[in-house]
Amino acid sequence: MNKQSQWKSSTGFILASAGSAIGLGAMWKFPYMAGIYGGGAFLLMFLVFTIFVGLPLLMMEFTVGKMGKTYTTKIYEKLTKKKWLNIIGWNGNLAVFILFGFYSVIGGWIIIYILNVAFQIVTFSDNTLGSIKFESIIGNPWLTITGQGIFILLTMIIVMMGVEKGLEKASKFMMPLLFIFLIIIVIKSLSLEGSIEGLKYILQPRLKDISMEGVLFALGQSFFTLSLGTTGMITYASYASKEMTIKTSAVSIVGMNILVSILAGLAIFPAIAAFGYNPTEGPGLLFKVLPQVFDQMAYGQGFYFIFLILFLFAALTSSISLLELNVSNFTKNDNSKRKAIAIYASILVFIISIPATLSFSSLSGIQFGAGTIFDNMDFLVSNILMPLGALGTTLVVGQLLDKNDLKTHFGTDRFKLFMPWYYLIKFILPVVIVLIFVAQFI
Ligand code: PFF
Repeated sequence: MNKQSQWKSSTGFILASAGSAIGLGAMWKFPYMAGIYGGGAFLLMFLVFTIFVGLPLLMMEFTVGKMGKTYTTKIYEKLTKKKWLNIIGWNGNLAVFILFGFYSVIGGWIIIYILNVAFQIVTFSDNTLGSIKFESIIGNPWLTITGQGIFILLTMIIVMMGVEKGLEKASKFMMPLLFIFLIIIVIKSLSLEGSIEGLKYILQPRLKDISMEGVLFALGQSFFTLSLGTTGMITYASYASKEMTIKTSAVSIVGMNILVSILAGLAIFPAIAAFGYNPTEGPGLLFKVLPQVFDQMAYGQGFYFIFLILFLFAALTSSISLLELNVSNFTKNDNSKRKAIAIYASILVFIISIPATLSFSSLSGIQFGAGTIFDNMDFLVSNILMPLGALGTTLVVGQLLDKNDLKTHFGTDRFKLFMPWYYLIKFILPVVIVLIFVAQFI
């Protein structure tokens, strides 16, 4: 069989690409980045980048996928007749590969927390959620390696089942449920004594907190949450049916992502202030703070358990898009190879994820560049490979593709968005990405 898989409906496409976008980026990474880079100042920079850079780039990736309709290590050649431009697809492939490597570390933590809380529940343990000690969990190499192995295995099984059979149906109720849970956590968090300082921290932008590093990481965060520059979104759009609407899909995904990021911020920062945590805790922030919040609720263990399942679901809908990109590039639309490639890619990801997980235990002493091995993997992907990939695609779209052809695939243009979007991609965004990219090396 040699054909491009398709989603049956455009809702399927939106659900899957929203699933790819909304995951650990908004819920786990946004709060800890905002904690390090100035709270409200970071939120403001993130919003500006997401709306003015991320949204047009997402529309661009959808348009390219819809036009090219093939895997992303071929699509650039197909659209421009220049084979060497497929390097942009390979850059994306490398990015998701490394990304999956460190993403699975956090996925593994969620699984360990789920098992921990389940154990408390079934043994009617009087232990409170506050007894879950983050440091002793992530400091245990075998436990964390097992957790991430399970996460990768779950992802692999879902991808082996094929794209249209994925989690689309489930996400119709899992995602709204996740929103509801986030809102409950926000309410609880805001009701804690001393929470107001945290609320101010995340909502009040203080200009003095804006640093060049913060600007870079805010841009990286926009790329990360919207899965941009990896060509992951191009892959999903290449599976979509002709009826998919680029603007509506992109706007709704960006809107949901911003909403989840803000809700995560509102859930975490008031609690940080109330419990006296340091906002610059780093990657463990969410895992340290949330058990304390649920501990304050009636039936806290049960609610926390459900929340963790929803959180795992959101992480899985993102990780399947990471593996899916590798699978589609290596099967080259030949679905008979799907299972074998999913297995090989997962084994390789598992191997590279081991140093990432050990960055929190036995290899924590190895520090260079952006920090630990884990930090460097994240930096390489979010701040280098993703912006480079997005830059490459803006250059292809703005300089090489036919404007009328783009316009046709952009779809009906009731609000006359095509021309501003096109000029943004052609002239402004490449310059913005280059400037910010170069700034980090100065
Ligand atoms: N956007 C995902 C998240 O925020 O968790 C991460 C991601 C998924 C990035 C897929 C890139 C990608 F291709």
